Amino acid sequence: MGADLEKVLITEEEIQTRLGELAQEIWDHYGGEPFLLVGILKGAVLVMADLMRAIPGSVPMDWMAVSSYGSGTKSSGVVRIIKDLDADITGRHVLIVEDIIDSGLTLSWIRANLESRGPKSVEICTLLRKPDAAKVTIDCRWVGFEIPNDFVVGYGLDFAESYRNLRVIGTLAPHVYS
Ligand code: PRP
Repeated sequence: MGADLEKVLITEEEIQTRLGELAQEIWDHYGGEPFLLVGILKGAVLVMADLMRAIPGSVPMDWMAVSSYGSGTKSSGVVRIIKDLDADITGRHVLIVEDIIDSGLTLSWIRANLESRGPKSVEICTLLRKPDAAKVTIDCRWVGFEIPNDFVVGYGLDFAESYRNLRVIGTLAPHVYS
């Protein structure tokens, strides 16, 4: 699987170190107040698993699945909820956990949707952000790494549903596309 990578952008150790830093910052930010982690399926599965285990206290999680893409590989901004939260978030602090902010259209929609449910606060933690791909500005409190506007896979990110289980994040070699 690793042979299909052209370049490793972020190593396993770099991911884990950064998630450890973010987990501590998040814990300090909420200062003992309860908060709910909301992961966005499927890409955020690995970030959620490692981030929540690095948080130095008990914290609940919930999940949403949305369809953010049309037929192509570009975000359309048209979002449909496929699986909604199990939890009622009224009056609760919510922290959205994502793998990547690309155009920002998906998260922009999700954030507005969650804010309409009367939570105490909504913040965002994303492992990756592509500043050069942004179509909307998103107020994201915690960003793991800012990366170039290249197609990346691994650590939850897929190409046609493959490579999510890579331990690193990298770019695909050209032979994979052809
Ligand atoms: C990816 C990613 C974000 C979204 C970001 O999900 O997990 O949710 O795209 O793109 P945007 O900022 O341009 O809107 P995807 O729809 O590929 O689903 P997946 O998590 O199941 O891979």
